[in-house]
Amino acid sequence: MFQSARFSLIELDTDRLLESLASEVRAGLTAIPKRIPCRFFYDEVGSQIFEEICELPEYYLTRAESEILRDHAEDVARRYSLPILLVELGSGSSTKTRLLIEALLREHGALSYVPVDISPSALEASALQLLDDYKRLEVRAIAGEYQDGLRRIRRDTQRPKLILWLGSSIGNLDRQSTERFVSNLRGGMNLQDRLLLGIDLRKDREMLESAYDDSSGVTARFNRNLLERINRELGGQFDSETFDFHAAYDEVGGRVVSHLRSRREQTVRIEDLDLDVEFAASETIHTENAFKYSPTEIDALARCTGFALEEHWLDTQNRYSVNLFAPISPIGAPISPG
Ligand code: AVI
Repeated sequence: MFQSARFSLIELDTDRLLESLASEVRAGLTAIPKRIPCRFFYDEVGSQIFEEICELPEYYLTRAESEILRDHAEDVARRYSLPILLVELGSGSSTKTRLLIEALLREHGALSYVPVDISPSALEASALQLLDDYKRLEVRAIAGEYQDGLRRIRRDTQRPKLILWLGSSIGNLDRQSTERFVSNLRGGMNLQDRLLLGIDLRKDREMLESAYDDSSGVTARFNRNLLERINRELGGQFDSETFDFHAAYDEVGGRVVSHLRSRREQTVRIEDLDLDVEFAASETIHTENAFKYSPTEIDALARCTGFALEEHWLDTQNRYSVNLFAPISPIGAPISPG
């Protein structure tokens, strides 16, 4: 692996990730109803398909978020008077982050960037590109799950931090886990730190369902890759084409729910788990929830996790939001960043 004075990559226990795939697949495919956690979408193939999703005409989230960041990156950068630590959870290809990196470099001349992502190959590829493009940037990448990455970042208390959690990744956790996770983040933050959250908004069914079940079938391929990943990594014998993909908006819960559905009755062997999984015709595997928020729900989330909602920016079509959460001191007021 490439390392230099401006680049390091720490890999946190990638064997544990494979163990967790095996145990979650066993638990999920023997449960009723069947499920596979959506964090397993992102192997190398899945991460590439996700990049394709971000370019789809129906998947407005990425473009809306970029528009907001383009308009407000300077404003975020100007809140800090000294060089900061820019931390990003689930950085992927870091494309949108460039808008913030550029604004922070313009403001402070130098920047430390800590991307945290499950995929070491995606981290290395994007870091090399960034280092090539920005000579005053250093990248300290962490390959692992968010929690592990956060534990490491907690130790750096010298510089003010800006933590990014973009792309509406927050929506893939249920509301209770989101509260727990954001409170946990708050626990590792000082008063001058900020959390920048990309959150998709509740809206009409048609726009949401076409964003999550696109006409060219890329999202269907993204879901079927879960089965193909089980074939590759756990000796599974899925014929992924015998599963249809379906996404529907649950308006009351404010979430888009995705499933794979077996076209026929079948038994699928997963060799490494010594498991035969039986499917009835039309039986489903739950693959993902994508929770959507109203502005009131976002404000409530900030308050109940120890933050004030300092900024709530929308794209020009009011579909998507980027939110700046400021930690609240025990006596109630956020202080301005250092
Ligand atoms: C990564 N995550 C925020 C995406 C979303 O919108 O929930 C994943 C995705 N699933 C289907 N399309 C995109």
